[in-house]
Amino acid sequence: MGVKRRVVSTRACEWSGEEGLCLLKQPHSSSYQGGDDKRVTGAWLSQVSLEKIDPNVTLFGGDLMTLLVEVITHEDYHVQVKISEGSSSGGGGGGGGSQRSSSRYEVPIPLNVPDTPGVAPWYSVSVPTPGSTFSLDITRNSTGTKIFETVGPLSYEDQFLQLHLRLSSTFLYGLGEGMHSSFLHSFHNRTTSPIFARDQLTYEGDQNEYGVHPYYMVLEDDLGTSHSVLLYNSNAMEYSTFLLSDGTPGLTLRTIGGVLDFHILMGPKPDHLNAQYTNLVGRPLLPPYWSLGFGLSRWGYNSTQHVREVVARNKAANIPQDVQTLDIDYMQDKRDFTIDSNDTWSDLPNLVQELHNDGVKVILIFDPAIATDLTSYPPAMNGRDADVFVKWLSSDLVPGDQCQGCGDYLVGRVWPGDTFYPDFFNPQTQLWWTKEVADFHKVVGFDGMWVDMNEPSSFGTNLYSLMCPDNQWDDPPYPTKAAHIADNVSKRLSDKTICMSSNHSDGNTTFIHYDVHSLYGWSHAKVTYRALESLFPGRRPFVLSRSTFPGSGRYTIHWLGDNFSTWKQMRLSIIGMLEFNLFGIPMVGADICGFSGHPHQELCTRWTQLGAFYSFSRNHNMQGWADQDPAVWPQVAQVARDVLALRYQYLPYLYTLLYLAHTEGGSVVRPLVNQYPGDMTARGVDDQFMWGSGIMVAPVLEEGAMERDVYFPQGAWYDLVTGAPVVTGGPTTSRVQAPLEVLPLYVLGGVVLPFQHPALTTTQSRKNGMGVTVAPDEAGEACGLLFWDDGESQLDHNNNDNNNIFLMHFNFTQNELTGEVQQTSPVVDNLKLETVQLLGVSQSPQGVKVNDVALSLDHWGYDALCGVLVANIDLPLGERFSVRVD
Ligand code: GLC
Repeated sequence: MGVKRRVVSTRACEWSGEEGLCLLKQPHSSSYQGGDDKRVTGAWLSQVSLEKIDPNVTLFGGDLMTLLVEVITHEDYHVQVKISEGSSSGGGGGGGGSQRSSSRYEVPIPLNVPDTPGVAPWYSVSVPTPGSTFSLDITRNSTGTKIFETVGPLSYEDQFLQLHLRLSSTFLYGLGEGMHSSFLHSFHNRTTSPIFARDQLTYEGDQNEYGVHPYYMVLEDDLGTSHSVLLYNSNAMEYSTFLLSDGTPGLTLRTIGGVLDFHILMGPKPDHLNAQYTNLVGRPLLPPYWSLGFGLSRWGYNSTQHVREVVARNKAANIPQDVQTLDIDYMQDKRDFTIDSNDTWSDLPNLVQELHNDGVKVILIFDPAIATDLTSYPPAMNGRDADVFVKWLSSDLVPGDQCQGCGDYLVGRVWPGDTFYPDFFNPQTQLWWTKEVADFHKVVGFDGMWVDMNEPSSFGTNLYSLMCPDNQWDDPPYPTKAAHIADNVSKRLSDKTICMSSNHSDGNTTFIHYDVHSLYGWSHAKVTYRALESLFPGRRPFVLSRSTFPGSGRYTIHWLGDNFSTWKQMRLSIIGMLEFNLFGIPMVGADICGFSGHPHQELCTRWTQLGAFYSFSRNHNMQGWADQDPAVWPQVAQVARDVLALRYQYLPYLYTLLYLAHTEGGSVVRPLVNQYPGDMTARGVDDQFMWGSGIMVAPVLEEGAMERDVYFPQGAWYDLVTGAPVVTGGPTTSRVQAPLEVLPLYVLGGVVLPFQHPALTTTQSRKNGMGVTVAPDEAGEACGLLFWDDGESQLDHNNNDNNNIFLMHFNFTQNELTGEVQQTSPVVDNLKLETVQLLGVSQSPQGVKVNDVALSLDHWGYDALCGVLVANIDLPLGERFSVRVD
């Protein structure tokens, strides 16, 4: 079948051109002017209509003649600006807060906004007055800074919506998912980047991968006052950064459908923004404790025996392992919910049992696409019976050469060959998927699900498999740069995915794929999360999804996709991890040692060190390349043993950070800018990162390097491993020694880090004694928190007296550490507090008292060289305690 293609316009606005010209070449300096200004009370700050100035002026056609601008106050720190089709019909709730005002598509996932708006908003708004050309400003009252300032014309055509903003500074972060070469965006060369879910290898540069996060943060002033903006829209988009003619930074946002719906949050500090954002889109899930452990994975295990050998050699090398992940190799013909009947895999249930006996959990991969075998493959037959697959928009689009019995289902192609695509919006799909998952779990007792290829991916679309028809969805007049993927030849949005003119339904509303494409991964992860909830009642599901959208963090964690075994990609993975913390998905990591290509020993050594401090730590690689688990090389094994022991030691701290992100918001893996927003140098640091406010990681990222520069912002810094003071005062940059076996790790004065003596699995380590590392600040003080529970039960947020949760607050002042129980629970009944490690002790102590009783000399020691006191105590963790050093 041939493909009929519309020739894409080469006018000035096309992405390959100089987008700045759009401003100049539009015949009018503004497309809209103010109409009625209906100032209303309550949640509505103002509601203004806009009229198209010249109905005959257009870029791509389908201009809306009347628009409605609503400025809606939510919390005092949160304002929504929504520009949609005029002539309000009232009623209903669109994208959170606003009334649905037209038939235009809006993201169907509600946002969390308060019923009662704040009474003292932190901002003032200026909207167009009748007859004036379009402009809209939002100003922070406390500083007078414009935090949302439109410049130039607004375009609002059926399939081309464009708004230009002047930013309050060049300190812009976020917008993704992409492999960015720096955490801080650049403005000096105009760059345009797409935002559209795409199965795309992680090529560095201005292109999008896997997930969609139209969300950015800007630092406004030297103090680090900051705001963030979410454009709540799921159509294909792009953004450009550039300098306006007066030298100020500009940001253009373009989308080709839906409405312009902005949520502006006002911090004022970056971590406040994180809390405000996850309140809006949903707090990230609390993962099960075991999933914080180290995981082995690869595509290309030949057999269960191969897996056994890999697990055994890592265990023999004393490398911790909590998780074994299995890729599509285990399946029969790469089909979900099957086991390869070949001898090589048929004993998979036994392997899973053996791993469980060893305390290792098993995660299996499940792709969304289902092989089109309607005669002998029950998941497809059941899916057809329940009518759960994505369809063509209308029966006349169904290709004549589509498979027998496939009806009006769209057929794409993934690993198993021709495939249907479950429509995860459809409530029937939830039931069908839940049942398939539960039935398969009876055969293989997996513990968590990895959901991959959910952009969704389809191989060879418009080339050799699925041929998309020619219509306004598959060939929009302005396809955005999203249609220009690295390995694509036809340059259509549907390349490597399914046709934009396919059809989804949630039972009430139908959606065209064009609108909901980038929500596919979100819907897959959500349905999978629910399936696991029903499979394991009361337990926290583990879902690992490749494609994500704002709010996906409620249902899934994330890895950064198919990277390469190169030094550069290892370095850039830090930026990806920081961006996903900004996006509200704090548990994230890249494939350690790289997915594609074979890493040499040194790269894998350094990557293992870095990966030990990814919040999600997994070594994974691609079919066709040799094994790269740490035990392959003695040197990597040695380093992995040491660095993973450190990870395991501080897992209680990581877990507490994840708990705080889940309950209150806040970043887990934190860029230095979040901790030090007023520090100009820290704003640009993206080769170091922090766990919370306590641990700073400065990995070696260059081949052959045995030392590196580390930036220490203001504060007292200690070496995490030796406890020795490194820098007091600061800020300063120091050259630190980092031979191959050393990962530079620091602790910031002012924190108390809870820890637990490590073991080879968390099942074991969770039984071990606990301890604290106390790192006093320059005033000699520190504090911290420990959250503990059984590691797997759902938290009951409606029950404040929940006795499954233990919380202890630590405080160190005037040489005395106290632990106060904030919430008591039997989960710590068998746990001991065994070790107190106090850093920054400059003089030999005279004695140590525990709960006012002197500790015998053989129970504490002082290392004068490093200034570290270690007290071995033996207290029940569940009780208040004090440790005094005299
Ligand atoms: C995709 C995934 C990769 C996986 C492979 C085979 O490329 O991103 O991690 O190994 O599919 O399932």
